[in-house]
Amino acid sequence: MSKIIDGKAVSSAVKESIKNEVSALKEKGVSVGLAVILVGEDPASKIYVANKKKACEQLGIISQEYILPENTTEKELLKLIDTLNSEKTINGILCQLPLPRGIDEQKVIKAISPEKDVDAFHPQNVGRIMIGDFDFVPCTPAGIIEMLDYYGISAEGKTCVVIGRSNIVGKPMGMLLLHKNGTVTICHSRTKNLSEITKTADILVAAVGKAKFVTADMVKDGAVVIDVGMNRDDGKLCGDVDFDEVSKKAGYITPVPGGVGPMTIAMLMKNTLTAAKKQNGIIG
Ligand code: GUN
Repeated sequence: MSKIIDGKAVSSAVKESIKNEVSALKEKGVSVGLAVILVGEDPASKIYVANKKKACEQLGIISQEYILPENTTEKELLKLIDTLNSEKTINGILCQLPLPRGIDEQKVIKAISPEKDVDAFHPQNVGRIMIGDFDFVPCTPAGIIEMLDYYGISAEGKTCVVIGRSNIVGKPMGMLLLHKNGTVTICHSRTKNLSEITKTADILVAAVGKAKFVTADMVKDGAVVIDVGMNRDDGKLCGDVDFDEVSKKAGYITPVPGGVGPMTIAMLMKNTLTAAKKQNGIIG
């Protein structure tokens, strides 16, 4: 049986430390503020945004929410971002994706000031991750690295396989594991002989978006299996990994829920704190 990587416990520890730092900054007269923009009615996005607000409240971070109607124009959204870019009390700006059709996602991402881009989606921040000189890390891959560190799991010299090549998870995940001296392969929908590759993984990250996609025969004995999935299977929340079977074989595994999910929000809070410290000259 594998050990469970408890994302809730790790995220609580991270959040506790952020809460203390936020409170210490407040005593110095420095506030920390995050603006979250949601356009439209996507039900999953509404839940994410509500959770982000709750986390801000728990940690003493000022949270501003902008809930805009589905028919918001790109121009209106860009105008709001422009205003928030120059708003001193706002240190971080997050525009929840996906955006409704008709709004150019990349244009919106590029409009957010790189100094306030707590998602690390702006091309400038993406480039900085590539060269290993970054302030912000995309929240999901950052949360995964934090969990590995917490459990003393090193990627150094390990075979790391990431399934999924999205800009939000797969690509930055591969890059962070590479910075940790892992030997990284990124697989995707056109990969041939996928299970031959996944079976070589010491660390396997599944970010596919398909319920129970990773089965036990795709996993090496004792591997560390990280499940980024958030799917519904017969109405029940489940990951990209067939947990019941894979957990009999893996060395470590993240559950869904209670694995990667809670870490993502904790890392958003961490990036927001970093943004506030940088903007106030507390760190370089
Ligand atoms: N939609 C799904 N994940 C994310 C995320 O990490 N950031 C933003 N902005 N939108 C998302």
